[in-house]
Amino acid sequence: MPVGPYPPISLPAAADSVTITDMEITTPAVEDYLMHITPQEDPILGEMETRARERHFPIVGPLVGRLLYQLVRLTGSRRILEFGSGFGYSAYWFGRASPVQFYQGDALETLKDLEGPFDIIFNDVDKHQYPEAFKKSNSLLAPGGLFISDNVLWQGQVVELEGHDENTRAILEHNRLVFENPEFFSSIIPVRDEISLSVKK
Ligand SMILES: C[S@@+](CC[C@H](N)C(=O)[O-])C[C@H]1O[C@@H](n2cnc3c(N)ncnc32)[C@H](O)[C@@H]1O
Repeated sequence: MPVGPYPPISLPAAADSVTITDMEITTPAVEDYLMHITPQEDPILGEMETRARERHFPIVGPLVGRLLYQLVRLTGSRRILEFGSGFGYSAYWFGRASPVQFYQGDALETLKDLEGPFDIIFNDVDKHQYPEAFKKSNSLLAPGGLFISDNVLWQGQVVELEGHDENTRAILEHNRLVFENPEFFSSIIPVRDEISLSVKK
């Protein structure tokens, strides 16, 4: 369901349903090129990437990791909150730019005991929790702070016209919330499985 004023550009004219099994949001050749020109400068990150590959564990990977690092540097952020750290790969990228402190437990529960304001909140929890993650945490952001979510196009499943599962429905709702909330200015960056950036006004 479109949330903005723009009409869809390329939905098939006569189709009443679209089935996307393995959508290429950036083509494999472009993805390969991006990976190829990206230097591997930190052996610890290299080990974590190998571990994620071997265990099929979903990390943000170097393309998004580098962007997260740049966002911290560009904004001069000091207080960063991440939900859904896995074994710490994206946290390691944040930690390269700013000190890190870990909490264990359900992030959306732990939130209740945290005091803002935070300069950046990075959301990578289970996808069905995305709307709740935004609603529960956005008041903890400083003015000018950045709410970032990973996987916001969910390998293209958000543009399927029917049969959305719980995760896809939650991501669609999250995307609607971040674009419609008048306190935020949002955009989606098509890198890997896409991240959304929402600046608090
Ligand atoms: C996609 S992985 C995170 C990857 C990590 N951000 C990275 O790129 O290195 C999501 C992780 O968050 C955990 N998780 C999901 N929902 C959570 C929640 N509500 N609280 C804490 N952890 C959660 C999952 O168990 C999994 O380990």
